[in-house]
Amino acid sequence: MAQRLTLRDTPVWMKRYVGGERRLSLALLDACMRRLGVTPLRPPPHHAGDRAKQLEMRRLGELRDADVRVPDVIGEGPALLMLSDIGSSFSARLSQCRGDTAAIDLLTLAAIDAIADVHSRGQYLGQPTARNLVVLDHGGIGFLDFEEDPAEVMSLDNAQARDWLLFTHGVARHYAQRPQALSDLLKRGLSRSRADVAAIVTDSSDRLHVVARVLAPFGRSAARVRAALAALRLVSFAAVALLAALAIDYLHDGDIDLLSWASHIIGTLS
Ligand SMILES: Nc1ncnc2c1ncn2[C@@H]1O[C@H](COP(=O)(O)OP(=O)(O)O)[C@@H](O)[C@H]1O
Ligand SMILES: [Mg+2]
Repeated sequence: MAQRLTLRDTPVWMKRYVGGERRLSLALLDACMRRLGVTPLRPPPHHAGDRAKQLEMRRLGELRDADVRVPDVIGEGPALLMLSDIGSSFSARLSQCRGDTAAIDLLTLAAIDAIADVHSRGQYLGQPTARNLVVLDHGGIGFLDFEEDPAEVMSLDNAQARDWLLFTHGVARHYAQRPQALSDLLKRGLSRSRADVAAIVTDSSDRLHVVARVLAPFGRSAARVRAALAALRLVSFAAVALLAALAIDYLHDGDIDLLSWASHIIGTLS
């Protein structure tokens, strides 16, 4: 939970690490992903309290050392960090474009370039959804929200593949009518990815294709899911996005009946 405050006329963010560890739902999701062999979508452990704070501090340090634009830690307390403000919400900026496709594409491309830059420095983000991206005051893109670390459950290649999937899901609703445009932008980012990263995504895609149709009707966000899928198919990612989207939607909004979803996946594969 993050709250904007003003400290001596300067905006800052107070982030409190509240909430449970959601062990049961994450274990179920993990079992699904293992069963499917889709490592990039395995959920990292969700730590609570001081552990989550320590994790976020460590990741912020690692990313800063790699010259990735992330907030500075300007204060701390029990299960609490004070972070510097690094700009305005990428998600809000996309919405403010109100259908101006050229403006949307410019923002999306800036984010894709920024993610590719992070990867080229041997790093990964973990949750680069639109809400966790920031448009920096001087232009460019910064990144937020590092209280989970995919490296706890997957390799660097898988974590980078995960970044592309989650980012695509986050922007897909702005490309519902233009999946080809999103695909073209993604191709530019992926052309800078290592071949191993693309290969993992393609492999995951093959494994998930069979369940895509079964899952399509689930959740409030079916249209967003389909848009992500359409764009990713065009860059041959196919159905991976669908599961990523469902997993993320569940974890963020709780709007998917995970038990029924899991039984469909397992039932489809067995
Ligand atoms: N340092 C920051 N600079 C700018 N905006 C921030 C900053 N920290 C948080 N925010 C805003 O607060 C929201 C929530 O913060 P985040 O770190 O993603 O926590 P949560 O775990 O609640 O998602 C972000 O989506 C962003 O809009
Ligand atoms: Mg967030």
